[in-house]
Amino acid sequence: MARTYHPEFMQELKQRNNIVDVVSGYVSLDRKGDNFWACCPFHHEKTPSFSVNQTDQFYHCFGCGVSGDVVKFVQNMENVDFPDAVKILAGRVGMKLPDEDFSDERTVALKKKRDAVLKILKDTARFYWDNLNGGNADAHIAYILERKMTSSTVKKFGIGASLDFQSLPQYLLDKGYSRQDILDSGVCSEHKGRLIDFEAGRLIYPIINAFGDVVAFGGRLMEKKPDFAKYKNTRETIVFNKRKTLYNVNLLKKLRKEQTISSVIMTEGYMDVISLYQAGFKNVVASMGTSLTQEQARLVKRYANLCYISYDGDSAGQHAAIRGLEIMQSEGVNVKVVPLPEGLDPDDVCKKFGAEGYQDCLDKAKPLVDFKITVAAREHDPKKPDERNAYIAEVLKIIRDVETESAKEPLLRQLGRDTDISYEALKRDLEGLPFVAPKQEISYFDQKDNADAVMKASRFILAAALFSKRYTLEFPLEILPFENQIHLDLLDYICDKRDMGEKPIPSEVFNIFDEDEPEINAILQLGDGSLEGEEGEKYFNDSVKKLKRYQTEQEIKELLRTCSETRDTEIRRQLTYRIQELTKALKN
Ligand code: UTP
Ligand code: MN
Repeated sequence: MARTYHPEFMQELKQRNNIVDVVSGYVSLDRKGDNFWACCPFHHEKTPSFSVNQTDQFYHCFGCGVSGDVVKFVQNMENVDFPDAVKILAGRVGMKLPDEDFSDERTVALKKKRDAVLKILKDTARFYWDNLNGGNADAHIAYILERKMTSSTVKKFGIGASLDFQSLPQYLLDKGYSRQDILDSGVCSEHKGRLIDFEAGRLIYPIINAFGDVVAFGGRLMEKKPDFAKYKNTRETIVFNKRKTLYNVNLLKKLRKEQTISSVIMTEGYMDVISLYQAGFKNVVASMGTSLTQEQARLVKRYANLCYISYDGDSAGQHAAIRGLEIMQSEGVNVKVVPLPEGLDPDDVCKKFGAEGYQDCLDKAKPLVDFKITVAAREHDPKKPDERNAYIAEVLKIIRDVETESAKEPLLRQLGRDTDISYEALKRDLEGLPFVAPKQEISYFDQKDNADAVMKASRFILAAALFSKRYTLEFPLEILPFENQIHLDLLDYICDKRDMGEKPIPSEVFNIFDEDEPEINAILQLGDGSLEGEEGEKYFNDSVKKLKRYQTEQEIKELLRTCSETRDTEIRRQLTYRIQELTKALKN
């Protein structure tokens, strides 16, 4: 298969693989004037007629007439084809091979497949929707009414109905879709050689990505059937990666266009999202199952720095769930766990106690660490003498992993009260555990206005990512504190593309922004050459550092402000601790 590389990649590859160095790895060269000479490795000779021209980076043999550049040399020397020669040279200088190019045949085929699959998914959503509204879906409609979904909600979420096994595949085949494409979209499966609707008979929840494309379906059984799963999602496909998907991210994105979002509510399931949304909590998404992935955490981070975890009590306390929440926290999202009445999920709470009832729960949300301690108390009762030590050991481990000393102290005091052990003893035990953070001194933080530098750094980072510079490909852009609305929208575009396994296309930004938007033009202009090579990479890394510093500085400013506003000496002391820690981090 033909493989082409981006001209820019080839240029860098050749720049970094000086032909003189590469050739001398195989034959010993003698310098004469501007050229280097050797006996030709490609034909037998006694006097050197093989020359390497350093200035123009090519070789030529005056004896047998072969010539070429560094890649051709490796091809001939190692007897490999072009892609393998590129691989060898890239490996030689530690360059990463680029993702396959758009012009690459395989990529074109993938793109074609993706388009076909998306079209099938879209037509299928339409088909299910028409079923629901076509007069033959009484059971589905009865179920919708029972779950108290309004007709505008049904429309917003594009809810539909599957009526049987056969009509969907028939419809899709009649429309001219190939059997293979239908199977590849996940909407049908094969049974005894025939296509059947994967969600046959179910109520359908389309799963839509941030671009507004339907990428999968969830289907719910409307009555209990012991041997069947209550919910069934269509399988992962070329357009559906469960790890990267949040249910309702499409409406969340729309919401962000209309207003600032300060938090995201994370639930487990479709009905929780739908009920909360209908009750006015529009910043809600679902992880579709309980263990959150890192990809989902980063997705959340793009929208807000605060996430309310609203799983039902039993599932939130499971180890897999807690691990997910820790991942989210470590991605820099502040996690709070919403306590729900025993045995109820958010949907139930809305039904029973209304929006105010759910708001009350939100108001009682606890920091993740408090929640973990609650879970520990469920596992080992601190009041029972034979379980107390296990409880203490567990909680000390939780406290040890808390980031700041200031946050540890009140937790330790509480542990002392819960177990009747002195604070000092617990503190000594805590210090006895490995990885205790060292004490630090208070220092002064110098505030200086650097809005301009921050703007420049943001611009550069986004430009480099927009032009898919090699050094940006693996970098998680979501963790950076972009603030400018245009920057945020551009970030969204780039991340959406990445999520779909594609590269951003610089000219496409004008589908999102006005042609004469100065900020966008400033970013596009950087594509002129500032982003290239090692220079570009270095500037990128500096810009990332700049933005991270900025984030810490902002946090310190915020803490200083809170500190000056509070009179409570205990709180002031804790804030001072935190400020001191951040200042130290800034210095490093
Ligand atoms: P729940 O069983 O808590 O369902 O599963 P729910 O969302 O409250 O649904 P209702 O109220 O009974 O309709 C939570 C989520 O876990 C996934 C689904 O995403 C569901 O929304 N799930 C659950 C499955 O994928 N399969 C199942 O069999 C059950
Ligand atoms: Mn439920």
